[in-house]
Amino acid sequence: MKLLVVGSGGREHAIAKKLLESQGVDQVFVAPGNDGMTLDGLDLVNIGISEHSKLIEFAKENDIAWSFIGPDDALAAGIVDDFNQAGLKAFGPSRLAAELEWSKDFAKEIMVKYGVPTAAYGTFSDFEEAKAYIEKQEAPIVVKADGLALGKGVVVAETVEQAVEAAHDMLLDNKFGDSGARVVIEEFLDGEEFSLFAFVNGDKFYILPTAQDHKRAYDGDKGPNTGGMGAYAPVPHLPQSVVDQSVETIIKPVLKGMIAEGRSYLGVLYAGLILTADGPKVIEFNSRFGDPETQIILPRLTSDFAQNITDILDKKEPAITWLNEGVTLGVVVASEGYPLDYEKGLPLPEKTDGDIITYYAGAKFAENSRALLSNGGRVYMLVTTADTVSAAQEKIYDQLKKQDTTGLFYRHDIGGKAL
Ligand code: AMP
Ligand code: GLY
Repeated sequence: MKLLVVGSGGREHAIAKKLLESQGVDQVFVAPGNDGMTLDGLDLVNIGISEHSKLIEFAKENDIAWSFIGPDDALAAGIVDDFNQAGLKAFGPSRLAAELEWSKDFAKEIMVKYGVPTAAYGTFSDFEEAKAYIEKQEAPIVVKADGLALGKGVVVAETVEQAVEAAHDMLLDNKFGDSGARVVIEEFLDGEEFSLFAFVNGDKFYILPTAQDHKRAYDGDKGPNTGGMGAYAPVPHLPQSVVDQSVETIIKPVLKGMIAEGRSYLGVLYAGLILTADGPKVIEFNSRFGDPETQIILPRLTSDFAQNITDILDKKEPAITWLNEGVTLGVVVASEGYPLDYEKGLPLPEKTDGDIITYYAGAKFAENSRALLSNGGRVYMLVTTADTVSAAQEKIYDQLKKQDTTGLFYRHDIGGKAL
């Protein structure tokens, strides 16, 4: 069987690598992918994620059994609808189901309608109304661009003035373009943040191990928000009862609600949660796998990934099994300056193998050789599994110390909350 993964980051590297390890999978293509992936035997296809008809043509000509869609913008653009219309199977939600991610306001409406616990909120497109609402709340308060903003459209304001300024930036100064033409203003939720993922088809869902991302750029959760600087799974200090409660109060009602709305969900559902004093509450839904969470969750899958997804697509019961010991932890290495401006073309260390996996994101071969150079914000990620968080940290940080990371940076405290 031949498969296609759409996307180019570390998440897609992890998905494609795991699929290629599955029995019965002969070849995995990644469109457009990155050169680092070829070191794991993956085949790159030079087609962009928004070129749906070219992707469809490729999938048909190459007998692709099904495609796995990685990025949110592809899903929001209706790639799965287009594949399905062309008679092709794809693992990912339709454009209408993916609205859970691409409109925060829609996600909020669904949560309110189906009783899913989340922060109290108001949605505004008029600045004066937003300002009046903010002035009635207490700080801290959260201001979010309604649409997709690559994780950067959220301001956790420490004061009412800062919140008003953020709303001004989004609604009047157009800082986030169309994404910020509407803002969601939200109550600040206090508690531990974690990610809960499920593989879903309609009302059937399969929960993945819990994970915790580190969104801020620098140690101690300082600096700007990024796509994610490292993660680990499972989160050892989250009891199973919290997962069970999240399933009952969040996953089940939202999937039921989506069916009732005629937007039955297929694919990976990603719930970003905060464990508050009143139990888990939703900060956001994403309609896809997390990056970097995928890179630390999928190595824990002990069943046949391709067979599992085939079964879910066919509405058969999949036999999904996970490693139930130890912890898998990964640290992202990024270009200095990320998430703002950064240089490209820096030489990267050799790929690690065996005990420590290297997943590539922004990596590209030099003009005339197979030496990998940096080519993006998040460049690569080292991932390992060990008995404890501190043992995993030791392995990864020892390895990173041996690598030449000139011009690159990483956090030194991934997994720190578990210690
Ligand atoms: P999001 O893009 O919605 O994941 O938000 C980015 C980050 O902002 C989250 O990972 C949280 O750390 C923080 N955040 C978002 N919404 C809230 C909230 N209502 N209360 C507290 N923190 C929040
Ligand atoms: N890890 C954050 C995200 O994928 O959105």
